[in-house]
Amino acid sequence: MGGPTMAMIAHKCKDHTVTVVDINQARIDAWNSDELPIFEPGLDEIVQQCRGTSLFFSTDIDTAVREADIIFLSVNTPTKTYGVGAGRAADLRYVEKCARKIAEVAETGKIVVEKSTLPVRTAESVKRILESNCKGRQFQVLSNPEFLAEGTAMQDLENPDRVLIGGDQTPEGLAAIQILVDVYAEWVPAEKILTTNVWSSELSKLTANAFLAQRISSINAISALCEETGADVDEVAHAIGTDSRIGPKFLKASVGFGGSCFQKDIFNLVYLCEHFGLPDVAAYWNSVIQMNDYQKHRFGRRILASMFNTVSDKKIAVLGFAFKKDTNDTRESAAIYVCDDLLQEQANLAIYDPKVTTAQIYRDLGVDASHPGVEICSDPYLATKDAHAVLILTEWDEFKALDYKKIYDQMQLPAFLFDGRNLLDLASLRAIGFEASGIGRG
Ligand code: UDX
Repeated sequence: MGGPTMAMIAHKCKDHTVTVVDINQARIDAWNSDELPIFEPGLDEIVQQCRGTSLFFSTDIDTAVREADIIFLSVNTPTKTYGVGAGRAADLRYVEKCARKIAEVAETGKIVVEKSTLPVRTAESVKRILESNCKGRQFQVLSNPEFLAEGTAMQDLENPDRVLIGGDQTPEGLAAIQILVDVYAEWVPAEKILTTNVWSSELSKLTANAFLAQRISSINAISALCEETGADVDEVAHAIGTDSRIGPKFLKASVGFGGSCFQKDIFNLVYLCEHFGLPDVAAYWNSVIQMNDYQKHRFGRRILASMFNTVSDKKIAVLGFAFKKDTNDTRESAAIYVCDDLLQEQANLAIYDPKVTTAQIYRDLGVDASHPGVEICSDPYLATKDAHAVLILTEWDEFKALDYKKIYDQMQLPAFLFDGRNLLDLASLRAIGFEASGIGRG
């Protein structure tokens, strides 16, 4: 998130100098090469255009901090794996290290901007660390959460629904907010730049992700009911989405949401609610995660039930492993959970994904090349050869264009197809001969 965001600022604000720093030399080397460390459509062009003029990448953190007027903190805030709040609270050690670094090396006052998604009131901790070492310097801490989604990052940055900037409502805080507003105003229309107090801004980011995830869990809950009643969840989603109060987006039933943000941010919200003595509010948001877990495992159970209650020693082709299309990111991908469940049932998986590496799939499943039940294929036709079932777990466009007749002809019979993304036309698959089913389609 830091790289693309700063590249966009450098691209739009040619009068400013933007320096991206990281302790990881290999990562910075990659940013300075032709092989950027992340793939986002449109990113390469902008980096090539600005690198060396308004955009720089370096491991010299001290110099960059000393020279900067504004410092964006874009370090990761994973879910804590240890101690109090393990598995739920955000791990803030990297944020704290950054604050301490700034306090240590800055020679003049700075505006410090939280870009990472942080629990409410983190700005206060950052501010206290800075102020307890301030030696006469003036620090202002702003919250400026990022709402971009993977795969569309550059589009989201260029044309955001809104930019949110929170800061202290003091004369100094308001002045700092205005400086950051002026940066975004270079390309974002004024009415889309929202300013709030710092806590509202921090909480808005967690709330936005919680609401988006809640929509998916809600439609996924309805998908289970559709399967029992003969309703079609896509028809229901379309019907309710035409109500302008509900709107059509984020109502696609699926095998479950994944990605680096939704689950982490909701856990974080749940933890905060508990911390502030609001167990009922915590339980409400936690149910969004529970429904997502239910959906992921329900998919595996349906496969098992349809395939005569055993998949042991049966070859199952898995098409798609990334958490969504157009990315090689597998963090919290539903595919990991579905594959784990099927491996528990001793299935033999043949996995194909157009972008995810073999090593990544092995890592996610906790196995290596010697595991007899996991084969990674370089082509979907190899994966489906002699298979008893095909699963669609990521909505890659290329899966729509496969020759399903050819696939059917090389499979065991009955040939099952489970579409976890409602990507394919079930009627034409059934006409070929498949025992085809989707999510929430009776
Ligand atoms: C999300 C938010 O959209 C973004 O604003 C925030 O800054 C970071 O988290 P991202 O994780 O990149 O972005 O992906 P997103 O497109 O939101 O999808 C998340 C997951 O939900 C994916 O697994 C996707 O397949 C799933 N999804 C999305 C559905 O199952 N149904 C939908 O209707 C939409």
